Amino acid sequence: MPRPGRRAASPRNTGMSSCFISARSAVLWTARSRNDGDLMAQVKVKFDGREISVEKGTNLIEAAKLAGIFVPHFCYHPGLPVVGVCRICLCELEGRPKLVAGCATSVEEGMHVITRSKKVADARRAVMEFLLIHHPLDCPMCDKGGECTLQDYTMLLGPSRSRFQFEKLTWPEEDVGGKLVLNKNRCILCMRCVNLCKDVAGLDEIAVLNRGEQTFIGTVDGRMIENELAGNIADICPVGALTSKDFRFKARPWELTNVSSVCPHCSKGCNIVVGFHARRNEILRNTARTNMDVNQWWICDRGRGGFHHVHDEKRLTAPARRGDKGYQGVSWNEALLEISASLRDIILRHGARAVGVLGSGTLTNEEQYLTRAVFRDGLGITHIDFPRRPQPEVRYAKFTIEGDKDPNARGALLCGVAPVQSGLGVRDMVRAAAEGTIKALLFLRGAPSPIPRAGCSASARF
Ligand code: SF4
Ligand code: SF4
Ligand code: FES
Repeated sequence: MPRPGRRAASPRNTGMSSCFISARSAVLWTARSRNDGDLMAQVKVKFDGREISVEKGTNLIEAAKLAGIFVPHFCYHPGLPVVGVCRICLCELEGRPKLVAGCATSVEEGMHVITRSKKVADARRAVMEFLLIHHPLDCPMCDKGGECTLQDYTMLLGPSRSRFQFEKLTWPEEDVGGKLVLNKNRCILCMRCVNLCKDVAGLDEIAVLNRGEQTFIGTVDGRMIENELAGNIADICPVGALTSKDFRFKARPWELTNVSSVCPHCSKGCNIVVGFHARRNEILRNTARTNMDVNQWWICDRGRGGFHHVHDEKRLTAPARRGDKGYQGVSWNEALLEISASLRDIILRHGARAVGVLGSGTLTNEEQYLTRAVFRDGLGITHIDFPRRPQPEVRYAKFTIEGDKDPNARGALLCGVAPVQSGLGVRDMVRAAAEGTIKALLFLRGAPSPIPRAGCSASARF
């Protein structure tokens, strides 16, 4: 077990620089779904004098959001069990002497919640002061800088100076597997990582270890984190303690253009945010985008890292003609004219059954429709199909990675990308091409390697 070292703390201030305040001003909250019976029961509550009607059982953080009021939180996440360990969400209830944790307190009829009193501000500042006792606040060199909740709250809630002058505990950085790096110096022991592994993946791979001042987050029995949901930890860790090996130090979050998209790596279709670095013309990360009907708050690590092929040197990005000297670059105009002339010639000489079209379960509905409209309806080609790439599905407690790796196989079938009038399927088409019965094969995305050539006079892949 690694022992902590000590590092001199700055007694003067927290080391924060205002240029590192995140542009993000609040955390996205999404209400937990409840059953219909609960949905019926509404209670009237006030937040700082603002009355709202809210579903019974809603906690103060979610209810405050409906009233347009921000209650800070570290450990609370709508997709994880409530643990109430960070205490930054403390709120005052009118008529009650003690402050309550907003994440662990449900609204009650007639409740008046006060979130902006001196008592609340003092309590939250005290919590921050404790959280920052050993925290290095090394934002300029921390990969989370710019999208860190602790950084935001330090600016928002204070304190601006530390009263602790003793040496801070320090720990060496650790590779904990699961594409994550752990920096315990920055950990605030919120337990989000522990609860994600336990509750969503259903695995005990990471835990709170040791006691008192020596408490730290670590892997169970020193084993690596192996579940394929581990990348989500980097998304939800509120500080720079568990960061993504794949993304760390590649860019600052404010340099990225975030584009909403959908993961194309299985039929689940998880909603993602693609982090695109416009100046470098490069995708640098995929993160989860909340969609309660599909992936809730999570994505798997395959989808998270599933953008590297975009920048793969071997990726086909421009037309090329295969000749005796290998592949030679040609313009799109040349390529399309040559392919259509060759296709027309083969159909005129041998008929439409001498051509095979291999579509793809990765194409969009519009592309599937065009595949059918151009090749099946337009040119009368009957050998039309698309390859399937099934794999075993991976089931976690609350998340399944689908085994169907073709995100739009259903769209292809519904649009009619399938053999008609005794047309051939994928395997038979490839065999017929090798034997020479099929003279031209068109691959609309990807192609077997090597492309069957023996008896086939033309093949094109897009
Ligand atoms: S590593 Fe991050 S998510 Fe885990 S307990 Fe520490 S601060 Fe929380
Ligand atoms: S489960 Fe994984 S591979 Fe499938 S769509 Fe979601 S992120 Fe992509
Ligand atoms: S958010 Fe309430 S105790 Fe952490």
